[in-house]
Amino acid sequence: MQFYIDTADIEEIKQANRRGWVDGVTTNPTLIAKTGRRNEDVIKDICKEVKGLVSAEVISLQADEMVREGLELAKIADNVVVKIPMCEEGLIAVRRLASDGIKTNVTLVFSPLQALLVAKAGATLVSPFVGRLDDISTDGMSLISQITQIYQNYSLNTQVLVASIRHPIHVLEAAMIGADIVTCPYKVMQQLVNHPLTEKGIAQFLKDAQSMPK
Ligand code: E4P
Repeated sequence: MQFYIDTADIEEIKQANRRGWVDGVTTNPTLIAKTGRRNEDVIKDICKEVKGLVSAEVISLQADEMVREGLELAKIADNVVVKIPMCEEGLIAVRRLASDGIKTNVTLVFSPLQALLVAKAGATLVSPFVGRLDDISTDGMSLISQITQIYQNYSLNTQVLVASIRHPIHVLEAAMIGADIVTCPYKVMQQLVNHPLTEKGIAQFLKDAQSMPK
């Protein structure tokens, strides 16, 4: 399973990259706005740090405009993936960008049938949001199982990128289902490392090492 980091913070990307946790990056307008910088400038800087796919989101809602914005974003670097919101105009834009050889990631996906349409449109990635479903008392991970099953049934090539990850259990369940990619906030990546028995064991070994003859 690939690990993407869900952030527009270059420092976080550098830290995670040093630890080998960055197979790719996802951003969205909320994350970019937090930086106080232009979308294109932030994406350019991220692409300098990362070899894997970097999702950069369009903000138009009409297909022609989405395609125009997407083509501009795709010029920034070869690893840019144009992120498009799930809607009818978005699917039109995905088809057009795909026919031009531009990679796309359809975001804000909350149902398996939306994901089926995304794959039929020729998107590279689909981003189902598990955390936001959990927030409304709906089991987000069931959506990942359903999409994975449907994509297997029809040998669809779109990769399932589990988004809106809130805690390590989401990552565990995505891995058990066999999702292609998870995109996590840096804080969740750090949580994956820790276990109280690991910390206790390290402390004990260090203590015992003190008693070794020098
Ligand atoms: C993914 O591409 C999105 O940027 C992200 O996972 C959204 O997560 P949130 O629901 O925590 O905002």
